[in-house]
Amino acid sequence: MPLSAWRGELVDFGGDAAGADQGCRHVVDGLLLVEDGRIVAAGPFERLQARLGGAPMHDARGLLLMPGFIDAHVHYPQLDVIASPAPGLLDWLERCTFPEERRFDDPGHAEEVARFFLDELLRNGTTSAMVWCTVHEASVDAVMGAARAQGMRIVAGKVLMDRNCPEGLRDTAASAYAGSRALIERWHGVGRLGYAVTPRFAPTSSPAQLAACARLLDEHPGVWLQSHLAENADELRWVAELFPDARSYTDAYDRFGLLRERTVWAHGIHLDDADRERLAAAGAAIAFCPTSNLFLGSGLFDAAAADRQGLRWAPASDVGGGSSFSMLRTLAAAHDVLRLQGQALSALRAFRSVTRDAAQALGLDDRIGSFEPGREADFVALDLAATPLLARRTARAATLEERLFALMTLGDDRAVNQVWVAGEPMKAREE
Ligand code: GUN
Ligand code: ZN
Repeated sequence: MPLSAWRGELVDFGGDAAGADQGCRHVVDGLLLVEDGRIVAAGPFERLQARLGGAPMHDARGLLLMPGFIDAHVHYPQLDVIASPAPGLLDWLERCTFPEERRFDDPGHAEEVARFFLDELLRNGTTSAMVWCTVHEASVDAVMGAARAQGMRIVAGKVLMDRNCPEGLRDTAASAYAGSRALIERWHGVGRLGYAVTPRFAPTSSPAQLAACARLLDEHPGVWLQSHLAENADELRWVAELFPDARSYTDAYDRFGLLRERTVWAHGIHLDDADRERLAAAGAAIAFCPTSNLFLGSGLFDAAAADRQGLRWAPASDVGGGSSFSMLRTLAAAHDVLRLQGQALSALRAFRSVTRDAAQALGLDDRIGSFEPGREADFVALDLAATPLLARRTARAATLEERLFALMTLGDDRAVNQVWVAGEPMKAREE
């Protein structure tokens, strides 16, 4: 793909988050140069226009260009159980989620849902995600195949559960190992795809299955692991019964050697300082799922404690426990969860968290999450006047912080005007 260019307002975040501006790089009249699906340069139009030559220039003036959003934790097979209320996590899993996941023994169903799911991510400006499948290997083939066709960078994996789950969703330690290994060989590193070993959570994996997960990671450097951790009080009591020797839920995983770099743990609500210290030292990351945590009544993620202890976190939708695919809605909920604990979330931190920090949490910040030269050209054009109220509120905003705060508080998919994946347009535009 030859050189092409976009002119518009640019916002992205540098590697160093120090200071109140969160490393924000803001260019009011900017130019983004893209070649072969990668960013060549980003900076002031004045300075870069000489490099245009005869390259086509897309006029995105009046829109804000930002790296595509990254969803650190989302379940594609739960698309059709979004908005299913329940008194708590375990009831919701039993009554809503497990019956739905059984439907993915039909590859045709998996393919239809996977396509809709990826379109929904893109409509919301999400260009990369850590994706959960079901226990069925064909559910992984479905979403990987669809993401490959779109050119999206996703990390996904087959769910592993060998106990405390219904027949039809149960594997074994041996079949979890063999199935995951076959899928790693089929998909990991193919185009932009990555594989994540995906034990559902400690209650549904036997010690033998958790040990098999560690073996898979040892044997396949570069592969990710994703799981759930410390989401709900009943779940915590259950883990304490199942792993009586473990000091804590975190320690139950640690005993199997599962805390490492490239591991993403959803929720991490009910942790103590020792847990956070251990997770941080291991280079693990938390996926903070605010709409899910509010919807299922799970609790409030303590971001200030995580920051204090150097534990990385990134926002995530956690659909279908979460109630929105929109990372803007997710950031608004994240703000409210922190506010309930007397903490703050600035817009600059929020947008940093969903681009640069998320890329870093996934170990992909050399590929995505910013406009640095060489990064893959996944980006969004955001319309800060997409609705009458958003237009009215942003018109009187004096600073970038204030405009972005209005965007995350009032915005949703309507504010996502266009999306590019590796420089290719993804969102059908109404003319
Ligand atoms: N814990 C174990 N499985 C799940 C799941 O599917 N969703 C959420 N939110 N928590 C879980
Ligand atoms: Zn989840």
